[in-house]
Amino acid sequence: MVMFKEDSPIKALYQSLPVLERQGEELSEEARLKAINGPLLSWYPAHARELPWRRDRNPYRIWISEIMLQQTRVEAVKPYFERFMKALPDIKALAEVEEDALLKLWEGLGYYSRARNLKKAAVMIQEEYGGRMPESYEELLKLPGIGSYTAGAVASIAFGIPVPAVDGNVMRVISRLLGSFEDITRPQTKKRLEILLKQTMDQHQAGFFNQGLFEVGALVCIPNGAPKCSECPLSSVCIARQKGLWDEIPVKPVKKARRIEEKTVLVIVGRKEEPGKAEKEELREKEAKSQNVVALKKRPPEGLLASLYEFPNVEGKLLLETSAQAAAAAGVAETAVEAFRPIGEAKHIFSHVEWHMTGYLIQVTGALPETFISADIRELEGKYPVPNAFLAYRKALSTIN
Ligand code: ADE
Ligand code: SF4
Repeated sequence: MVMFKEDSPIKALYQSLPVLERQGEELSEEARLKAINGPLLSWYPAHARELPWRRDRNPYRIWISEIMLQQTRVEAVKPYFERFMKALPDIKALAEVEEDALLKLWEGLGYYSRARNLKKAAVMIQEEYGGRMPESYEELLKLPGIGSYTAGAVASIAFGIPVPAVDGNVMRVISRLLGSFEDITRPQTKKRLEILLKQTMDQHQAGFFNQGLFEVGALVCIPNGAPKCSECPLSSVCIARQKGLWDEIPVKPVKKARRIEEKTVLVIVGRKEEPGKAEKEELREKEAKSQNVVALKKRPPEGLLASLYEFPNVEGKLLLETSAQAAAAAGVAETAVEAFRPIGEAKHIFSHVEWHMTGYLIQVTGALPETFISADIRELEGKYPVPNAFLAYRKALSTIN
């Protein structure tokens, strides 16, 4: 710290300099972080993106958006968010929604435990908090699916509570700013940054402060490629910019390669049996086209894609002949098979696994074996949450109907 006499005219001049132009001074981390409040808070209002969850400070809307944004890009979240809010406009509606309807609203967003936790939390808010979102960081943290990041985001944005909201983007910005080579995937790193930010952030504009950091992370200090330091409101105090370190920070260990699972997917199409209705030949002919049903299975309640619906599938990449045997083993009588053809390969990437799939379309006469759920093809899109992993085969179905 450079010392001046209290009344020195040089002191005022010195303090007006951008921090890093004060030669010879090493700022403490706290001082460096305190120095971003001013520039960040004046930059944010002019650069904030207009986003559907920013129209007001409704805690329910903010909560839902933050959960959706945890693993999904802003652009992808927007339409889901609007649809979700129309279907479930408040906590009560969420607490009372049927699981299948909820998963249907989430279909395509992935990481479905987020949706199940939302409902659990909504039930808890109804039962324990009189249907109102708790207005404290500590109470928010107790809700299922809410960790320090989400609790911080909701508490600061909806209620103005001075707590940080540290996600991967914020860690990237702050590690660069501090020139920190700490591994940002370690929980200790996040904890340390949270403690630092909590003490240094503007105590009266916490919502804008946190959203300002989201904006810098999304628009300026971007994750892939060079950050736009010349446009950055934090550049005068940024160590990564000063030392040319953006390429080395943030530090993350190299991820383990994903496990690859080969699967054979059987899209089995049959006809709905409607005893009594089939008497009139004319009627049957008219309806025949829309009577197609497809075989679905409900996945187990735990693990990957829990409780969602899927086309029957077996391990391994099977050829046509062996997949016919697999279908027979699943109860599809060979004599009933009208057509059996490949419908291509597809790949789906999860965080730790990749599915490499081979698909076959099997058309059978009459009803499907009872071990399957017979889903009316017209209902498939509206009723059964089928994860995007099977999208290619859902599309293949549209060639049937
Ligand atoms: N990323 C995480 N939370 C966000 C928010 N509230 N606005 C924009 N991007 C975000
Ligand atoms: Fe990121 Fe550059 Fe801004 Fe530093 S100056 S925070 S590296 S964009």
